[in-house]
Amino acid sequence: MKVLVIGGGAREHALCRSLSLDPAVSALYCAPGNAGIADVATLRPVDALDGDAVATLATELLADLVVVGPEAPLVAGVADAVRAAGIPVFGPSAEAAQLEGSKAFAKDVMAAAGVPTARSYVCTTPEEVDAALDAFGAPYVVKDDGLAAGKGVVVTDDLAAARAHALGCDRVVIEEYLDGPEVSLFAITDGVTVVPLQPAQDFKRALDGDQGPNTGGMGAYSPLPWADPKLVDEVMELVLQPTVDELRRRGTPFSGLLYAGLAITGRGTRVIEFNARFGDPETQVVLARLRTPLAGVLLNAANGTLDAQPPLVWRDDAAVTVVIASHNYPETPRTGDRIEGLIEVAAEDEPDAYVLHAGTRREGDAVVSAGGRVLSVTATGSDLAQAREKAYTAVARIRLDGSQHRTDIAAKAAGLG
Ligand code: AMP
Ligand code: GLY
Repeated sequence: MKVLVIGGGAREHALCRSLSLDPAVSALYCAPGNAGIADVATLRPVDALDGDAVATLATELLADLVVVGPEAPLVAGVADAVRAAGIPVFGPSAEAAQLEGSKAFAKDVMAAAGVPTARSYVCTTPEEVDAALDAFGAPYVVKDDGLAAGKGVVVTDDLAAARAHALGCDRVVIEEYLDGPEVSLFAITDGVTVVPLQPAQDFKRALDGDQGPNTGGMGAYSPLPWADPKLVDEVMELVLQPTVDELRRRGTPFSGLLYAGLAITGRGTRVIEFNARFGDPETQVVLARLRTPLAGVLLNAANGTLDAQPPLVWRDDAAVTVVIASHNYPETPRTGDRIEGLIEVAAEDEPDAYVLHAGTRREGDAVVSAGGRVLSVTATGSDLAQAREKAYTAVARIRLDGSQHRTDIAAKAAGLG
């Protein structure tokens, strides 16, 4: 099977790594990719937001499957363009991707499907904003309705800051604050059948102890030793299947990866948000634990034959990923810094620790930073403590001027305080 992956972050590196290890994959391409993905896939340049360009490339490469990684191309209709060219594609249509593209749309779907989520108001005027902020009180949760690359949500006790963020958006969702640990649960679906993956936890804040600004995600781990073993079944029944059924009922079936961001509150599990694609960095740890070859599962989803998919098989191992970010991330990340130590990590007699590239590019013989999140250092071990130790040992070998990373990824879950 020839597979083309669209995107160029650590999530796509994780996808490409898994696909490259799948014996069913005879050729693997990534467009546009990054310096690390070049080790496991053939890179092709493409404008990932241009559906026609992606469809033309997929046709040229005789791709049997296209996997669209990031949300922006999905919302822009790239999966539709590839599907229209007659090529199976893993990723929802533009209409179904509105589940991520519009928070108001997602709330509407959840209301129709009876999915538990924060109570909310959709506001378009300052009067509505004030009324909603007043109705819920602090802490205030204010969400830009549209895609905002992880920067659209403000959670604050400061009324003036909440108001200012709301007034800076055309349309805003203001909602009840959900208190409790967060869980990311992904499911692969063909629009009818839903296959859940293993839950993971992401660390959204920039600094240790969940301090500092929100980011795209600074690290992740899986499994979650503290979670109720019935969590996946419960979320399947209350969230994932009803959402997939509702989108099919509307005539816009969702096929691809449905990501439920959940809060485990004292009053039960609630949806914080949906995404229409694999999460980053959770994908790095979830795929590290998946034993079932990936390509067949994604192709079954793309072809509408997920009911024929044998149950997924998981490793008992735990996985941890630590993100190394640029100087000044998330505000104005500095790029162009040389990264050292990648060869040392690869040469280490430790196949369970590896570096996935997020924002990197090659400059002559050097690999340099090219984005806010630069690397996602991933390791597996017999438990979270061991996986953590291996990941941080690898992190310590990498040198990137001015870089930052959290030192507490998975620490609490591993019983380390
Ligand atoms: P989102 O982009 O919707 O995932 O929001 C980003 C982050 O903001 C989430 O991971 C949460 O940490 C936080 N957040 C979003 N909605 C809520 C809420 N209703 N209550 C508490 N925290 C929230
Ligand atoms: N890990 C958060 C996201 O992918 O949106």
